[in-house]
Amino acid sequence: MDGNGRWAAARGLPRLAGHRRGLDALRRAVRAAIEFKLAYLTIYSFSTENWSRPLDEIQGLMGLLKHFLRNDLNALHEAQIRVRVIGARDTLQHDIRGLLEEAEVVTRFNKGLTLIVAFNYGGRQEIIAAIRAIAQKLMSGDLKINEIDERVISQYLDTVGIPDPDLIIRTSGEQRLSNFLPWQAAYSELIFLPMLWPDFDRSAFGAALDGYAARKRRFGGPSAPCEEIAAAVNG
Ligand code: FPP
Repeated sequence: MDGNGRWAAARGLPRLAGHRRGLDALRRAVRAAIEFKLAYLTIYSFSTENWSRPLDEIQGLMGLLKHFLRNDLNALHEAQIRVRVIGARDTLQHDIRGLLEEAEVVTRFNKGLTLIVAFNYGGRQEIIAAIRAIAQKLMSGDLKINEIDERVISQYLDTVGIPDPDLIIRTSGEQRLSNFLPWQAAYSELIFLPMLWPDFDRSAFGAALDGYAARKRRFGGPSAPCEEIAAAVNG
C-alpha cells in the first residue's frame, strides 16, 4: 500500500491525510477481494522499518490502525472475514496488541476471506525468529537436523497455515519487495503499478488480477495458465 505520502504531498496536505485516504482504499480493496472471490488478502500496513518515520506520523498510523480495528471489526465479522495478524507483537503498545488479538479471536471461525494484516512485520525478522525456534527444538532433541525442510520452516513462520501468495501488487511505481514475505514470495507473481495507493480501486485490482490470470506460472516446471483466477475475475 505504497504512495500515501506522495499522494498527500501532491495536494499540499499532511502525510496523515494520505494515510487516511489509504485506509479508504484498503476498505475498497477488501470489498473487491470478496467480490473477486479471493480466499486470502494480505496487506502490508506497517513494516519494522517504518519505526524510523517521524513520531507524529507513527502515532498517526497507530491511531488509524486502532480506528480501523474499532470501527470496522463488526463489518468485517458480518462479512465473514477472518482476520490474521503477522509481525512482531511483543514490542507493540498494549492497546494495539489487544485490538489485533481481539480481531483474530472474534473472527476466528469465519469462513470467508482471510484478511492478513502485516503489522510491525519484517520478513527477515520473521525468518530469524523461525531459526531461533527451530534451533531450540534441535537443542531439546525434539527435531533432528535432517528433518528440517521447507515444510518445517513454513511451520515456524507467522504465516503458518496460509498458502504462499500467488500475486503481490505494489503501488506507487517502486519495484521491490521491501522485506515483504521474502520466504513466501519465492514463486509469487509480481505486479508493480504506477498509481499511488489512495487511488487504488476495484477496477485497478481487477485489471491486476486479469494481468495475473494471463501469465503462465511454471514453478520451475512446465507451464500452466492461471485459469482459476481468470474464471473468478471474469465470472
Ligand atoms: C506507505 O505509503 C504506506 C504506509 C507505510 C502505511 C499504510 C497504511 C494505510 C494504507 C492506512 C492505515 C491502515 C492500517 C490498517 C494501519 P508511504 O507513506 O510510504 O508513501 P510515500 O512512499 O509516498 O511516502
